[in-house]
Amino acid sequence: MKLFRSFRLDPVNQCLWHGEQRVTLAPKAFDVLRYLVEHPARLVTQDELLDALWPETYVNPELIKKYILGIRKVLGDQHDNPVYIETLPKRGYQFIAPVTDRVAEHPRDLPSDTISNMVGRAGPLGELQVAFSKALRGQRQIIFVGGEPGIGKTTLVDSFHHYASRQGNIRTARGQCVEGFGGKEPYYPMLDALGHLTRSPSAGAILQTLAKRAPTWLIQFPSLVKAEQREALQREILGATRERMVREICETLESLSCEAPILLVFEDLHWVDPSTLDLISALARRREEAKLMLACTYRPVDVILSNSSLKGLKQDLQVHNLCAEIALERLPESAVAEYLTTEFPNSSLPLGMANLIYRHSEGNPLFMVAIVQDMIKKGLISHDDDKWILTKPLETIDPGVPQSLQQMLEVQFERLTPAERQALEAGSVVGEHFSAWVIATALEETPNRIEDLCDELAGRQQIINAVGVQELPNYVVSAHYEFRHSLYRQAIYRRVASGKLARFHRAVAQQLNTVKGPGRQQLASEIAFHFESGREYEQAIRFLIVAAENAAAKFAYRDYIQVLQHALGLTNRIDAHLRAELEVQLLEFIGDAQYALGAMAESAAAYESAASRAGQAGLKSAQVNALGSLVRPFGLIDPDRGISAVSRAVEVTRSMHDPVVLARTQMLAAGCRLLYDCWREEDALLCTSAHDELKKLGDTHIPPFHNMIYAYVQALQGNYVEALEIFERGIPKLDQTTSLMEHFFGLSGKTITLMRLGRLGEVLRIVREAKDMAQKNGNDPWLFNFREAWVRMLALDFEGSARVCEAILRTKPLYAVGQPQTIARIARGYSAIAGGFTELDRGNYKRAIESFNEVRDPNITPKFFLHWAWRMTAQLGLSEAWLQSKDIERASAEADAFLHSALQTADPHLQALACDMQARIAIVKGDWASAQDCVHKALEIVRRFEVPVAGWQVHATAWRIYRSKQEYAKAESHRESSQACIFKIGDSFPQGEPVRESFLSAAPIARILNSSVEKGRATDD
Ligand SMILES: Nc1ncnc2c1ncn2[C@@H]1O[C@H](COP(=O)(O)OP(=O)(O)O)[C@@H](O)[C@H]1O
Ligand SMILES: [Mg+2]
Repeated sequence: MKLFRSFRLDPVNQCLWHGEQRVTLAPKAFDVLRYLVEHPARLVTQDELLDALWPETYVNPELIKKYILGIRKVLGDQHDNPVYIETLPKRGYQFIAPVTDRVAEHPRDLPSDTISNMVGRAGPLGELQVAFSKALRGQRQIIFVGGEPGIGKTTLVDSFHHYASRQGNIRTARGQCVEGFGGKEPYYPMLDALGHLTRSPSAGAILQTLAKRAPTWLIQFPSLVKAEQREALQREILGATRERMVREICETLESLSCEAPILLVFEDLHWVDPSTLDLISALARRREEAKLMLACTYRPVDVILSNSSLKGLKQDLQVHNLCAEIALERLPESAVAEYLTTEFPNSSLPLGMANLIYRHSEGNPLFMVAIVQDMIKKGLISHDDDKWILTKPLETIDPGVPQSLQQMLEVQFERLTPAERQALEAGSVVGEHFSAWVIATALEETPNRIEDLCDELAGRQQIINAVGVQELPNYVVSAHYEFRHSLYRQAIYRRVASGKLARFHRAVAQQLNTVKGPGRQQLASEIAFHFESGREYEQAIRFLIVAAENAAAKFAYRDYIQVLQHALGLTNRIDAHLRAELEVQLLEFIGDAQYALGAMAESAAAYESAASRAGQAGLKSAQVNALGSLVRPFGLIDPDRGISAVSRAVEVTRSMHDPVVLARTQMLAAGCRLLYDCWREEDALLCTSAHDELKKLGDTHIPPFHNMIYAYVQALQGNYVEALEIFERGIPKLDQTTSLMEHFFGLSGKTITLMRLGRLGEVLRIVREAKDMAQKNGNDPWLFNFREAWVRMLALDFEGSARVCEAILRTKPLYAVGQPQTIARIARGYSAIAGGFTELDRGNYKRAIESFNEVRDPNITPKFFLHWAWRMTAQLGLSEAWLQSKDIERASAEADAFLHSALQTADPHLQALACDMQARIAIVKGDWASAQDCVHKALEIVRRFEVPVAGWQVHATAWRIYRSKQEYAKAESHRESSQACIFKIGDSFPQGEPVRESFLSAAPIARILNSSVEKGRATDD
């Protein structure tokens, strides 16, 4: 801690104190001051400052001048008669006030100038101190400080903050909630507080902890992430959720608190955003030890008015003893008297003075201070001969004191010049903080002129304070000001006539809108707020969309939806021709977000509304989009409705006379029918020809979802290379809500293609990575659990496959139960077959048949993605079961049916298995000619297509046939081919992978691997 005159500079927590009051100073201005204070009583040149504070960037030296100017304002230094900073023309600056060091560890030897002028708060301050000592022992503390505006919440917390930062090595950080647009910015105060921490001297440790424990937070500070780090970080946070983001910041704070206790202050929580409430809730409920204290201030009445869920949260935490509350009351008369004694130490003010101020202010400290200052300004209290005196009798003063703070402010306001009033009015429109630059256009003035005006006001300690010069996101440097209290701002804002108010809001919005560059995006909700208040609704909606995207970048999809819904509420105020377009767009976005949240019914509802709204307004292209989107949620909850939606989309496109849109939609519709309904050759042809058509038309922007549907269709026809290429292209795009879904869709398609290619080990690897990721994100990895069950089935681990599915079903998923139910049934069926049947196992075997039949029955198993392929697999299982039980008749009937349906598809895997089954039935019938004929057909397929999972079985059958025909050389070559297929599958797993081991030791596989020509001769089955 550095002390100079009545100021203290705390470099650890990056704050400047004046008595018990924290002085707001922009981060860079703070750095400049700090450098000067740390190098006092000598010349510091401009170059030295530039090198020390901007080592890697070019900065205009003029900037330093501005900063120094800002610092001087804050310190109350005068240019012509400086007591802090002296300018040495053409050379630099010198800090001339005497500086002393105060070691933080010795709180007892405090300088006398820190004696507080805070009165009547010994009790609350004591409570905070007790809580803090508990926090220092590892018991986390959450404290809410409530009370009306001006009651002294900030003052109390400041004073406590000051106390805490003297208790040794402690990190403190403050976050402010803001009125207006702030509630639309997820985690606003936490990001604010973190921002301060990342600029403190211990920023290095904080960044390291963030990188290790909170990548979802680190990425919110783009300027702190190096370009080479960014991509890895993007990958790391893929699919992150609100839960993960909350957990990560809790862990970060806990981990940091092990090094040094943390005091967090969130101010004005009545304006809080819902995500921050989640964070507070999690922070309060976690049980880990942490030397952590969170102090929050709020106004109870505003919480009730704004219907914020803060009330519920606080009550809930209180019931569980997880937080404490300090309610600040009005000051008693004795405290007012004490205030007068501390403010006017050597005075002969009349006794009734305290009572007068008490009666008028009713013990509200803000009003109390305002009355006293007003009296000083009017010369009623004056310094005379080293003594404070009252210049008029008390009785004559009494009637003139305004009855309310509002009245008092109005009287003060009326005394200002018109230009000053204008500036304050415009400032009140911007918010509690404003810069000269932002209000200059609204006032049609130059920023310099506004600065002079505001400096003058701040110098008179009236209504606003100067907070120094700050750099705006567009690199403009401008002086910033803040209202001395938010009530001052409100009082002034309320006076502005409505037409003028709207004009000011619009001007502010337009001025902010001129910001280009990296900071622009972050201003979206603020700009939207001003456009909305300025009644420019179309612009407001457009910026709300950007604000919503910002929320999505913080994985706050609920906030995202809320912002869009708010925008939707504004659409009825804009021109009809624009209205529909924006409505449809907003509804589409809402549908996407609901889909990302897993709320399929809500997602479908939003897309439905988008489609019908677009339909009414004749916006065909938008209608087609919305109808196409419907297939995504419906694919999971009601495929038939998805199919009907895409068919409607095709109908609409027919009247559009746009060959690209027509071909895209036809491709999508045909693909969806193939994947969700059944395989039809004409659809397969249509899908492919539409794709060719798009190529011919030079369509390079086929939507990724459409393209992936096409890729599935290719995979199911054996065009694995093309399919893989498309899926992989879809995977790396990870920046937005919808592209996240594309990413999963791509991964899903890739795993299916790899399974057909027998690369089961690779699928398992993808599955495990995705599951790790899902765990980190607190997501349900349902899709990847399905894939694991599927892989295990192909690797003949039927028990394992069934177990995975049954575990999924135990969690009672909301949708997409068709697939795990089906795989479980088929796996159980096969597991029974693999066990072999004895007479005793009849019950078992019957159950297997039952299971397969359940999959076949559309009443028991409704449609789902690729349901027809699974139904065919069940049919193959049935014929296997009958074959094992020597019921050749039924086995043959099922096998014929299976072959028939397999031939309706274009899937080489299924077709090869169907021919193979025919061959095996012919063997049992003793019809060798037919067996050979069938196996040749199967062999032809597995030679043409890379389908080793079918391949090993087909070659095994051929091996058996040639052995029986005693053509041992041919038999052996098929055994070897079968073995090669098995190895191909086996080698896709890493050594020691249990699924690999169970595959290689499964009975049918072992039979092939362990046989040689001789053995084959000896043991024929
Ligand atoms: N206990 C106190 N003793 C003396 N003055 C106080 C006290 N509490 C508040 N004040 C004065 O009232 C003003 C408003 O208080 P503040 O803490 O900003 O209120 P709140 O945060 O509750 O709205 C402060 O700037 C300070 O001058
Ligand atoms: Mg306050």
